[in-house]
Amino acid sequence: MTIETSSDHPHHRQRRLLITAGPTHEPIDSVRYIGNRSSGRLGVDLADAAARRGWAVTLLLGPSALTPAEPSVRLERYRTASDLGELLAAHQRQCDVLVMAAAVADYRPKVTPEQLTGKLRRKDTKMVIELEPTEDLLAGCASRRDPGQVFVGFALEPRERMMSSARDKLERKGIDLIVANPLETMEAGAIEAVVLGRDGSERKTEGAIEKAAFGDWLLTVIEEAATCVTD
Ligand code: CTP
Repeated sequence: MTIETSSDHPHHRQRRLLITAGPTHEPIDSVRYIGNRSSGRLGVDLADAAARRGWAVTLLLGPSALTPAEPSVRLERYRTASDLGELLAAHQRQCDVLVMAAAVADYRPKVTPEQLTGKLRRKDTKMVIELEPTEDLLAGCASRRDPGQVFVGFALEPRERMMSSARDKLERKGIDLIVANPLETMEAGAIEAVVLGRDGSERKTEGAIEKAAFGDWLLTVIEEAATCVTD
């Protein structure tokens, strides 16, 4: 399969990828937050791999120590799930493919503006932090999707229910593709993934492949799906 670029076909413009990566930090007060252990590695690698293939790439990156290597990647930063929601709303119309690789918090501390600008003090009694649900950003984006756009999500799941949970998320969020990984790939050097399509398709990596090679593998799968939708 070949992907035509603007240079080899006058009717095909450069494909545009909007990709999110990294953790969220949900503030408890002005100095503390609830976060997660996502490094952003996979999403940043994917952004670079797409840029090298000639895609126009916008990366929405959370509080991660990483940055893309490719100078053509447009980078915007977010901190909270709510910040990311605003960036997605501003950018989602201008993409052909959205890849949600960000590890978005499902809950955030319920705090007042005063608590946000102040600092909790130590006391000898127990402390309770109340959490409220965040929005499901991917489901929200998918409900506002334009025809022809391809939306891709991730699902990190315990191996024994990986396929059924991923299939369920694909339906629930109304997206086109979901990349399912077993939980134990989180800190491994290699990744074993299955990509499930809305059309019932299933594509697996051949066993575990190096994380560095995974970006290219996944982009090929996405390009095939995007070609089916737009051509
Ligand atoms: N996601 C999102 N908004 C959230 C939580 C998750 O857009 N508030 C996205 C993630 O970026 C990922 C996909 O949804 O692409 C699946 O995330 P996951 O945390 O596995 O799914 P949840 O909807 O949180 O489901 P559950 O907690 O039941 O596993």
